[in-house]
Amino acid sequence: MQAGRASITALRAARSRAKHQLCDFPPIFEDPIALKILGLRNDAELRAMPPHADSKFARGIRAGLVARSRIAEDELHQAVKRGVPQYVVLGAGLDTFAYRNPYPASTLRVFEVDHPATQAWKRTLLDEAQIPLPDSLRFVDIDFESQSLAERLHAAGFNAGEPAFFSWLGVTMYLSNDAVMHILRHVASGPKGSGIVFDYVLDYASRNLVGRLFLHALAYRFARLGEPWIGFFQPHDLMTRMKAMGFAEMEDIGTEQLNERFFMHRQDNLKFSEFGLRFAKLGHVMVARV
Ligand SMILES: C[S@@+](CC[C@H](N)C(=O)[O-])C[C@H]1O[C@@H](n2cnc3c(N)ncnc32)[C@H](O)[C@@H]1O
Repeated sequence: MQAGRASITALRAARSRAKHQLCDFPPIFEDPIALKILGLRNDAELRAMPPHADSKFARGIRAGLVARSRIAEDELHQAVKRGVPQYVVLGAGLDTFAYRNPYPASTLRVFEVDHPATQAWKRTLLDEAQIPLPDSLRFVDIDFESQSLAERLHAAGFNAGEPAFFSWLGVTMYLSNDAVMHILRHVASGPKGSGIVFDYVLDYASRNLVGRLFLHALAYRFARLGEPWIGFFQPHDLMTRMKAMGFAEMEDIGTEQLNERFFMHRQDNLKFSEFGLRFAKLGHVMVARV
């Protein structure tokens, strides 16, 4: 993140989810306010694009983005059924769950945690789009690299004595390994019933040559945007470390599993393994419970 500047990648992810609502049928991830939050200019621009104007690569990335959001919200609903009363959206960007939350505040309180510049920008967009802020929502600003998540959440009324479900989508790659471990340790130290869904990018050592070149090219693109990718993980090593922290159950979902779960037999051929992604194995989604 560049100091004082809202996240450009958050805008790109949100545009992808909005595009999904317009172009991919049936949708993997339904988000009726994905377009609205982006404002009229983005709305008009996205609607004006022919449905198949995207490159295969852009479609592949979109598939991964909507699949990870779907997994997170499916897990969230399971957690709420088990009585988990708090949802923490880490690095929320333009995530819209809080504004279409079907549960009353007495059942689920939502904490949107993000970098102050991104959060301020989001609040302006919400205001402009006249999307009301529900009573169940609290905003928490943070720099994951230098501030304690426990302290920032506590200040916002988070109850550390109650279980919480966390989502952390599209963020770990922008953080140092130390910052990622700090957050995972925080989640693991929560009461039984707590859990998290996050995605991560495979490290260089876990890749074949195509995958390494692919990662190199992508990392270069993000560095030019001012949001370099610096956090990469090896699945076995990550799970070993998470187990030691206290996570009791973990499911590490790779490219093939994502495709099997969400993208088989679609008429529109949307899938995560499009183009280079099949060989490059971009990233995984981790579902973990305390
Ligand atoms: C690619 S966006 C993902 C946003 C959202 N989760 C989504 O899936 O659309 C990355 C998010 O991480 C946040 N972020 C990146 N570095 C951060 C840091 N050091 N501290 C707090 N938030 C950070 C950005 O503000 C942004 O909201």
